[in-house]
Amino acid sequence: MTTPTPARKKVTAPMIRAMKGKSRIGMLTAYDYPSARVADAAGADILLVGDSLAMVVLGYPDTLSVTVEDMLHHTRAVVRGAKTALIVGDMPYLSYHVSVEESVRNAGRFIQAGAQAVKVEGAKASRIKTIEAILDAEIPVMGHIGLTPQSVNALGGFKLQGKNADDARRLLDEAVALERAGCFSLVLECVPSELAAMITEQVTIPTIGIGAGPSCDGQVLVYHDVLGMYDGHTPKFVRKYANAAADLQKALEAFLSDVRDGSFPNDESESFHMASDEELKRLYAARDEGGVVVEMPKAN
Ligand code: KIV
Repeated sequence: MTTPTPARKKVTAPMIRAMKGKSRIGMLTAYDYPSARVADAAGADILLVGDSLAMVVLGYPDTLSVTVEDMLHHTRAVVRGAKTALIVGDMPYLSYHVSVEESVRNAGRFIQAGAQAVKVEGAKASRIKTIEAILDAEIPVMGHIGLTPQSVNALGGFKLQGKNADDARRLLDEAVALERAGCFSLVLECVPSELAAMITEQVTIPTIGIGAGPSCDGQVLVYHDVLGMYDGHTPKFVRKYANAAADLQKALEAFLSDVRDGSFPNDESESFHMASDEELKRLYAARDEGGVVVEMPKAN
């Protein structure tokens, strides 16, 4: 007999912050009810409803087209699917760029949709003010620096950030600014390992890396990348733990082949039958008697 695994406690933002230096944080993106259920059951500490939704689910070339409404729709589905993981809503492009007031209102909509925190990209002075205002509305904020995909046009592409000492120094300062502002954790995306190690040592909040080497306090990958569900470009830092796209296609081909050769469905195990032979006989008799049971509308 297997002993049932004890129910895990719902993860909160303060719990994630307290994990620094104690246990590594495992974070995944999730976009809907089934992905949230699977990632939560697998034991993810954090589920990020990432704006990568735009690319891996909605088929856009970058993250810029996804709206607050799109993100809220998917956040609600993830909330319904996850019991334990902390749910972080990723604030999409233009939802925190126009004014502080609008940013706080948009962040609040994620909380009302069931997320427990939001993630905001960047750390320039105006962004820090926005983050402080969101925090002031009692909303935990996860920072995100390095390659910030919403700045793809300003950065000139999806490129490694902080390769030279000046850029790296700027990123270190940004990390400290986000920590001081009150972020409970910080995503470091696509930065050199050495820089991620330095930031991780410098700040008291957990760093969560994606393409940032092994020294971070946690790691995050996109659900579709980990499972091999996405056949677009796969970055160097992704480790695929399954080949789901290929496996799913194989399974669907088998189904279609069974439909076409008539072997699906099986008339015993995969079909329903009349209540009894008696009922079947009554049906035949009724048909043979003729007459109209249900008057059908006449075509003009
Ligand atoms: O949207 C996303 O998936 C992200 C992660 C890569 C951190 O922001």
